[in-house]
Amino acid sequence: MKALVLSGGAGTRLRPFTYTTPKQLVPVANKPVLSHVLENIRDLGVREVGLVVGDRAAQIEQAIRDGSEFGLRVTYIPQQAPLGLAHAVLLAADFLRDDDFVMYLGDNVFAEGLRAAAASFHQRRPDAHLVVAKVSDPTSYGVAEVGPDGTVQAVVEKPAQPRSDLAVTGAYFFTPAIHQAVRMIEPSRRGELEITDAIQHLIATGHPVTVDRYDGYWKDTGQVEDLLECNRVLLDRLSPAVDGQVDDATRTHGCVVVQEGARVTNSHLIGPVIVGAGATVHNSRVGPYVAIGRECFIGDSTVQDSITLDGAAVRGVHQLRHSLIGRRAEVRADRRTAHRRLILGDDTQAEVPA
Ligand code: DAU
Repeated sequence: MKALVLSGGAGTRLRPFTYTTPKQLVPVANKPVLSHVLENIRDLGVREVGLVVGDRAAQIEQAIRDGSEFGLRVTYIPQQAPLGLAHAVLLAADFLRDDDFVMYLGDNVFAEGLRAAAASFHQRRPDAHLVVAKVSDPTSYGVAEVGPDGTVQAVVEKPAQPRSDLAVTGAYFFTPAIHQAVRMIEPSRRGELEITDAIQHLIATGHPVTVDRYDGYWKDTGQVEDLLECNRVLLDRLSPAVDGQVDDATRTHGCVVVQEGARVTNSHLIGPVIVGAGATVHNSRVGPYVAIGRECFIGDSTVQDSITLDGAAVRGVHQLRHSLIGRRAEVRADRRTAHRRLILGDDTQAEVPA
């Protein structure tokens, strides 16, 4: 089996971060979402990965390279514009050939991996096997109507009036039958070749399509709130490890990870928390649920439930919570001024006390 990972697209809902970083490279628990994706693929025993990339191809290639760091062989498949998930399958036809494959959306997190779903695909080998999850608002997902025997009767992309609460997640298992189906469909109202329509075509032409319900934690990381939630869930699964320096004046509680070259002095770390390589934490209270990126500086501050990306700095700030701080961004409290001074980039959001 091969894998097709989709890492193109625009990422408009994650601006301003996606002005400089493709959304699949935004880190949760100090690792890009795409790295979590590739690790899960390796755990399925897959080695050959086609990685569909859009206008941020260079950054993705720089981060993932040839995939050998993950035990994978990665082939890059450029997509000129985000014309849809089924369009990506069309582009990948030469790479996929006659192999079965798992298609995995590069912004989806499956915290418990996909082994169970892969096993039932191999066992039953339908032409499409979907991983579905119950959601409270199905209108922003593909939605599956499933019969009592677990076969799919219909799939609809983002329906206004959903007929089921089972969302199609970002993992799909296919036999080569999908290649004919993606050639038969037309662009949708939003102008994309929808994989949902190709799957519906399989159903309509008598091909077996089945589902597995995902019991673990799944998230499509479309928005900042989703990233913070994933961060909490993945930090909860870390094992403690201190490779950097933690001085005697620092107290730690719970699961604490301090990566190589990081320095923590006169602070209180409340796990789960991860301090990235080369970062400095001084005179601060950090955690729970905080991921501090590489080379960050946290001084005289209290930080909770937040992610700071590489090179960010937080100085003298109390009660920083539920925040995502961009690369090299600085948050600084200044006792000499009574007013608030903000220098914010386009599409930035800031909340200050009223
Ligand atoms: O996350 C699950 C949902 O993903 C499914 O329920 C929907 O049926 C499916 O259409 C998809 O919906 P989204 O609106 O969330 O898809 P999005 O545009 O965010 O794209 C998903 C990933 O695929 C993302 O990593 C970007 C990448 N992509 C997207 C398009 C449209 C590409 O690489 N190329 C593309 O042309």
